[in-house]
Amino acid sequence: MKPFRDKRRDSRSHQPAKGGAEQPRGTGTKPDDRSVPKPTPRVLSLRDGALPVEHLPLILEVAPNADYALLDSGAGQKLEQYGPYRIVRPEGQAIWQKALPAKDWDRADAIFTGDTDEEGIGRWRFPRTPLGETWPMKHDGIDYLGRFTSFRHVGVFPEQASHWDHMAGLIAAAKRPVKVLNLFGYTGLASLVAARAGAEVTHVDASKKAIGWARENQEMAGLSQKPIRWIVDDAMKFAEREERRGSRYDIVLFDPPAYGRGPKGEVWQLFEDLPDLTDLCRSILTPKPIAVVLTAYSIRASFFAIHALMRDTFAGMGGTVESGELIIREKSAGRALSTSLFSRWVA
Ligand SMILES: C[S@@+](CC[C@H](N)C(=O)[O-])C[C@H]1O[C@@H](n2cnc3c(N)ncnc32)[C@H](O)[C@@H]1O
Repeated sequence: MKPFRDKRRDSRSHQPAKGGAEQPRGTGTKPDDRSVPKPTPRVLSLRDGALPVEHLPLILEVAPNADYALLDSGAGQKLEQYGPYRIVRPEGQAIWQKALPAKDWDRADAIFTGDTDEEGIGRWRFPRTPLGETWPMKHDGIDYLGRFTSFRHVGVFPEQASHWDHMAGLIAAAKRPVKVLNLFGYTGLASLVAARAGAEVTHVDASKKAIGWARENQEMAGLSQKPIRWIVDDAMKFAEREERRGSRYDIVLFDPPAYGRGPKGEVWQLFEDLPDLTDLCRSILTPKPIAVVLTAYSIRASFFAIHALMRDTFAGMGGTVESGELIIREKSAGRALSTSLFSRWVA
């Protein structure tokens, strides 16, 4: 089946990284002759046992806060506050009108223009004063760096905070050593939150550059002494290897893009590969697992699709599968901006 890129959910389309560099969206995202052969697909069959209890729809919301706020949106754009800066970026879903007057938007510190082929900061305009590539940010007391990237991303996906808080609660409540695997981990915020909560973390991303940024964030957060393994690898290959080696985790997070590439050109296509990876995530759980959290974005699908996949995959495990959307609540007029779909199994 050929995956379809849904522009409405395109806010996080993101390519890793051949050899660690980000690639502009829309180029090099599809398989080509550089593709490495796919490993033999897993043989999937229906799992035995009762389906987990289901809870849906569950809408997890990030409200405006001191570290981050969606100030306003409309006319295909969003105005956000990231720490000290006001940032304007395109937002395809904002088909409504802006609620704040032009003077509020005109006070932006950075605007994503995307109007050059240049890598990095060249695709941003700074109307007030020229800014550097990074700036200090905080999440719930964790210091890290925001950054202007060529993909209009800023080094963090604030909507993920709903998952971070939930996961930190589960880690604390476990009152035992907890091992977390963060696949497609990007700049590492989830890994830092998990490590601060007391977990031993393995963080995997195909992009060398993203792993470099994640390490910088670890230092910035003052969490260098916390046990985090930073690994540049293809998520699927890594999970397969862990299965073979018998490495096991209590919590698995996976936040795959619609299309992606491993460091050796391995092709990731969500609609083809997600069932195998979800199955792998189940098989690398410890005997007393805590949770498996899947987020999906930039795809034409409903959360019912990933809900059914997760529920079938976790049959016989007890627990609950809860699914829905991650949204960000706008400060100006209270409208909800949907960013992604999620489904999570919780023991
Ligand atoms: C949008 S980011 C995930 C965001 C992250 N979970 C967070 O909350 O910050 C998607 C990540 O997947 C990585 N990626 C893409 N294809 C991959 C692959 N085949 N294996 C491992 N990582 C991959 C990209 O480098 C990128 O960092």
